[in-house]
Amino acid sequence: MMSNEFEGNVALVTGGSRGIGRAIAGELAAGGAKVAILGRDGDAAAEAASNLPGSGHGGWSCDVADSEAVNSQVKAVESALGPVGILVNNAGLTRDNVLMRLKDEDWELVMDVNLKGAFNTTRALTRGMMKRRSGVIINITSVVGLTGNAGQSNYAASKAGMVGFTKSVARELASRGVRCNAVAPGYIETDMTDALDEGQQEALRSRIPLGRFGAPEDVAEVVRFLAGPSARYITGQVLAVDGGMVI
Ligand code: NAI
Repeated sequence: MMSNEFEGNVALVTGGSRGIGRAIAGELAAGGAKVAILGRDGDAAAEAASNLPGSGHGGWSCDVADSEAVNSQVKAVESALGPVGILVNNAGLTRDNVLMRLKDEDWELVMDVNLKGAFNTTRALTRGMMKRRSGVIINITSVVGLTGNAGQSNYAASKAGMVGFTKSVARELASRGVRCNAVAPGYIETDMTDALDEGQQEALRSRIPLGRFGAPEDVAEVVRFLAGPSARYITGQVLAVDGGMVI
């Protein structure tokens, strides 16, 4: 793989301070991009940015669910680093419960962060990408958005929503030189999955044909491929990175 395929390009990664987003930011930086990390905690975002390979990266505090904050922070990023050519919508959270016990707030928060958050950042960057007739958008969904999952109806709905969003954006922006794809991770070892106990982890592992949980890098390297020139003829796709869980 080329080692500097993103030279001269700027990548924006939401939720890039830890976990999968941090690994994605690392891969894009290793490919030569200047990376902007947007996170709820500005200090954590700045810390993560300062540890990326290369130079010129930065961290900004932003709640992706807040469209005004997104619009103003996207402007701040572009005036500091230049036009964003790669957007990775990675920020996400869970508020799991069985349907009967899900509160309005659990539904709304998960939809607002996972689905509306992706809309907010994409809308904020679309005009510039269309004008330049180039851009790449990658949405981090989940295999749960494809299969559903008991106890995660809000999360699965938000992730399935991202699939429809990805396909629509791909159709709408293809003629303007902008590609949009989604990556659907299976079970990846991060803070999000740390919450599971040993028994739950063992039961899950037995459902993964490749026999192990994924690492953030397993997802990040696929994002790097989709963002790069080797994926120039791929748009509107959902690529599962799940050790074969969903075949
Ligand atoms: P994580 O919890 O370690 O990281 C999520 C990041 O998003 C954090 O940096 C967090 O601060 C940020 N974030 C949350 N709400 C935000 C908001 N309102 N505004 C800005 N940033 C916000 O989770 P992980 O595992 O790294 O997940 C990353 C993405 O991958 C998420 O979208 C998640 O749904 C998805 N995913 C994760 C899987 C896993 O097994 N870990 C499986 C499938 C999908």
